[in-house]
Amino acid sequence: MNDHVTYEVQDGVAVLTISHPPVNALSFSVRSGLLEAVERADADPTVRSVLIRAAGRTFPAGADVREFGKPRAKPILSTVVARIETLSKPVVAAVHGTALGGGFEIALGAHYRLAARSARFGLPEVGLGVLPGGGGTQRVPRLVGAGPALDLMLSGKPISAEKARELGLVDVLVDGDLEAEGLVFARNLAEKGDPPRPTRDRREGFADPAAYQAEITARRAKVAGSPIEAPRKIVDCVEAAMLLPFEAGIAMERAAFDDCENSDGARALRHAFFAERRAAKVPELEGASLREVNTIGVVGAGTMGTGIAVVCLDAGIPVTLVERDDAGLIRGVERIDAIYERSVAKGRIDAATRDARMGLLTGTTRMEDLDAVDLVIEAVFEEVSVKEAVFAQLDQVMKPGAILATNTSYLDINALAATISRPQDVVGYHFFSPANIMKLLEIVVADKTDPDVVATGFALARKLRKVPVRAGVTDGFIGNRILAAYRLAADFMLEDGATPAQIDAAMRDYGFPVGPYQVLDIAGLDISWARRKRLAATRNPAHRYVAIGDHLCERGWLGQKTGRGYYLYEAGSRVGTEDPEVLEIIAKERAAKGISPRDFSAEEIQARCLGAMANEGARLLEEGVALRPSDIDVVLLFGYGFPRWRGGPMMAADLRGLVTVESELKSWIKEAPEFWTPAPLWDELIKNGRHFSDLNGD
Ligand code: COA
Repeated sequence: MNDHVTYEVQDGVAVLTISHPPVNALSFSVRSGLLEAVERADADPTVRSVLIRAAGRTFPAGADVREFGKPRAKPILSTVVARIETLSKPVVAAVHGTALGGGFEIALGAHYRLAARSARFGLPEVGLGVLPGGGGTQRVPRLVGAGPALDLMLSGKPISAEKARELGLVDVLVDGDLEAEGLVFARNLAEKGDPPRPTRDRREGFADPAAYQAEITARRAKVAGSPIEAPRKIVDCVEAAMLLPFEAGIAMERAAFDDCENSDGARALRHAFFAERRAAKVPELEGASLREVNTIGVVGAGTMGTGIAVVCLDAGIPVTLVERDDAGLIRGVERIDAIYERSVAKGRIDAATRDARMGLLTGTTRMEDLDAVDLVIEAVFEEVSVKEAVFAQLDQVMKPGAILATNTSYLDINALAATISRPQDVVGYHFFSPANIMKLLEIVVADKTDPDVVATGFALARKLRKVPVRAGVTDGFIGNRILAAYRLAADFMLEDGATPAQIDAAMRDYGFPVGPYQVLDIAGLDISWARRKRLAATRNPAHRYVAIGDHLCERGWLGQKTGRGYYLYEAGSRVGTEDPEVLEIIAKERAAKGISPRDFSAEEIQARCLGAMANEGARLLEEGVALRPSDIDVVLLFGYGFPRWRGGPMMAADLRGLVTVESELKSWIKEAPEFWTPAPLWDELIKNGRHFSDLNGD
């Protein structure tokens, strides 16, 4: 019918094939091609039934997210689905891959659904801040009732074909040739004279109206506090499915979708979706020849090293783990064992999988055993001399062309690379703790890093199921530079009159799972103390410095692990209470500096913390440490608990308005000019009417 939908008649069955790589997203051309093909099948007297299928790797994986937020060309998806459903001839959908969102809704428009056993079905729209807009909120409940329908729509998580079959969303599971089976099924329908079976006319899901309504009430209570509108609208629409006539329910769904689509939350979530994928595209990939990484060495069997080893083992890559002595090695292997033990206990993996993964692990105390590995990730103590000594040994034993990655969080990788004979093979892999859980991986490119090494890092990250972001060398790379700015903004407020609890509460209100002082207490105050001490020699004495954290550390109050930090912890408790002595230390510090404390509203606390993050982000862009604003957002979203529905600090600044944020920054300059003065990039963007998002490319 057009480039993206083909039409062919075989034995009285019109076969409509959607072909729009890579994921058959339902863009305008697919929608219009499909509508045209359906009309043609209806009018074609030789056609007695219809089969809708997709070419390539998947049945449509949803609406084309790139069209969201823009005026949508007609026909819209719900028109296409309705036309499929009201066709006078039976329609069969043959589903493989991931039938997500609009793809699933197309299948629901069909009268029968066949699925490859490996197929998956899902309604992930909520993750993009919207709801199913192609009739999903009305059709799914008709088939399965409110509970399973809301599970799909509120979690956004796909289910297996098997589960879909159990629920009644799929009629037949196919193990063999899906297209051939689909054809036979469609032909049989015609031969038996089976009429169309529109989903809109089905009522199995309404069999128990009281249970249906009870489910609605329970879910409504659960989503009441959601920061985005979509979950509440989903519940309303599913309720309407039973209460209203079909067309009225569809109209309600459309209005709800339109309301959500242009909300800030939906814009931010769409941004996050594309930002994650964009971050994986780096200039070094162009023309790169990837190095083989079939075996990995991990040096250092502490928390980070063992977490990293698990990540590699999970990807099926054999790991050689190196520790200095047997005792350290045994502890390390026990840690890995414990991680897998927990996974088995929680039912995430079975015992056989654990055994297979542990079977890929070799422990050793001899650096020489790394002579044949393709890549080593060094995760030893964060101290220049220690890292240099390890690198010198690695330089001696590793084979030519092998990659030397360091898991430093702060240290100068250029300097480290310069100490060995092959700086071109050195790269930073900054994992986040716990490494086997946190998705972020900063890939730090030093001056001499070979582009092939960078490209190999990005390919490996995909294998390791990490979200990689390219960063340049600077103290703290992208994430910890932003974190340091965030903390400094918070510390200034602490000194000027706020309490740790007020600041933490304001940032939790913004959407962070925990506030900055809670994080410090969890991570240990000594890490940032060490950094401050390291930077002390080069610190400009004219710059504003807050010493409150140092005073706590000097007392041995290092956070939860010592029972007190910014908060006080009862023995064994992870919930802190306000510590009057800490407040006293803060008060003393204020008095010493002649500061008379003032109140900070939650809004001001948020504005200052976010302004500081975005300004530091602008500096990272100017310095070339971050390639694009969206990379900074990805780092904060995946490594630092920044709320996804806010999009990250750069997107949040765009949404708030650059003029507003810049003028706030300017209003604080007098308090600490070196910190609050806006980076020149703000003016440059504002002058040209641009946003940070305009620098993202694509
Ligand atoms: N609209 C537009 N583009 C989409 C898309 C969509 N719904 N889904 C995926 N893409 C694009 C990606 O941006 C990527 O483009 P790129 O290669 O230019 O970066 C490409 O398709 C491949 O996607 P990717 O996610 O890298 O592939 P994958 O194999 O890891 O995962 C999916 C495939 C379908 C599971 C995953 O892409 C997905 O979950 N997509 C979103 C589905 C969704 O939310 N649909 C509902 C929309 S309302």
